[in-house]
Amino acid sequence: MSGAPVPRRGPGLGAPELIRDGVLAWSDGVIDYAGPVGGYDGAAEPDDLGDVAVIPGFVECHTHVPFFGWRADEYEARLAGRSYRDLHGEGGIYRSARMLTEASDEEVISFCRPVLAEMLAAGTTALELKTGYGLSVGAELRQARLARRLAAEAPQTCTVTLQACHAVPSGMAREEWVRLACDELIPAAAREGLVEAVDVYVEDIAFSLDDLRRVAAAATDATLPLRCHADQLGASGAAQEAVRLGARSADHLNHVDAEGVAALARAEGTVATLLPASTFTLRADPPPARELIDAGAAVAIASDFNPGTSPVLSMPEVVAMACTLYRLTPLEALSAATVNPAWVLGLHERLGSLEPGKRADFAVLDSADLAMVPYRAGHNPVIQTWIGGTPASGRDSS
Ligand code: NIG
Ligand code: FE
Repeated sequence: MSGAPVPRRGPGLGAPELIRDGVLAWSDGVIDYAGPVGGYDGAAEPDDLGDVAVIPGFVECHTHVPFFGWRADEYEARLAGRSYRDLHGEGGIYRSARMLTEASDEEVISFCRPVLAEMLAAGTTALELKTGYGLSVGAELRQARLARRLAAEAPQTCTVTLQACHAVPSGMAREEWVRLACDELIPAAAREGLVEAVDVYVEDIAFSLDDLRRVAAAATDATLPLRCHADQLGASGAAQEAVRLGARSADHLNHVDAEGVAALARAEGTVATLLPASTFTLRADPPPARELIDAGAAVAIASDFNPGTSPVLSMPEVVAMACTLYRLTPLEALSAATVNPAWVLGLHERLGSLEPGKRADFAVLDSADLAMVPYRAGHNPVIQTWIGGTPASGRDSS
């Protein structure tokens, strides 16, 4: 795979050519050769895998795991005409917060364990876990500790993001929660070494640009990178503010305006992270994905897996939606699902592409033609998932 600068940007998203008759070789879990068979001079005779594709393991950079319980009735209510904004209170983030509070630690872990296993079977070898269903300092820290427990037992590499500002806790003024998040929650999570990044949900039903700036300052004090849920339900100017604050990513972007697109196109390190499964589930307007890529933005795609807006955890499914709904090419979608999200999570030096020196995390697909992944939406094309050169999940090819 090409050693182009990361994150990869512009038309094509710096995706490498697919190599026919390629060889992947590793020792001690680290790749020492990835290229055409003609350039391979290793001692071991390569196994012939037949008519398959070997791709980097998917790096999933936006989930809301751990959570507990589903909200299919809200989905049905939206089909009948209620809006996501409308359900925010009795339902939505508040409801998931109640369900998380009422569940024991063991119940949460038992709910989430199969989720990570299902992700693994669909080729996800690294992922983000996120808080945001705590809505108090204590409950957010508990959720972060549960995320760390999951991370410790999962075969995948996991990072944990503190979604310090996701919803304003009931009965509390917004400013008061932002103050608590900045003065107590972020420093406590950083002190305990629980999280690798901080996220804020900027929206009319959530937090303001001013709140984003406050949280950014607290994250900087704690030496944690910033991420932002930006312009999901409406335009707020969050994308350009995220770029100005040096955030690692601005996520969703369904309603990003022209100024936001221009800012992301110029941004050095803020990745436009698109979440097509939540667009699909909410029947929302798509973001200007082609415009972002063609303008020169670095783009990642992720599932946004959560019980409200995206109960979809399969990255092949996300690739299908990104290609069909957002018009990414299959190769662009591959870059957007591997190397660019590795950068978002700060894992790009070890993961996200098949290059010497990186860990041998890869998925074996049941067809050599990458277009088969988005084309056969709903089919799991992953027949084997390998982590660190060791088989981690597999099934018969059929
Ligand atoms: O990324 N929009 C904010 N947060 C989540 C949804 C959370 C929920 O509904 O539980 C999202 O879409
Ligand atoms: Fe999200």
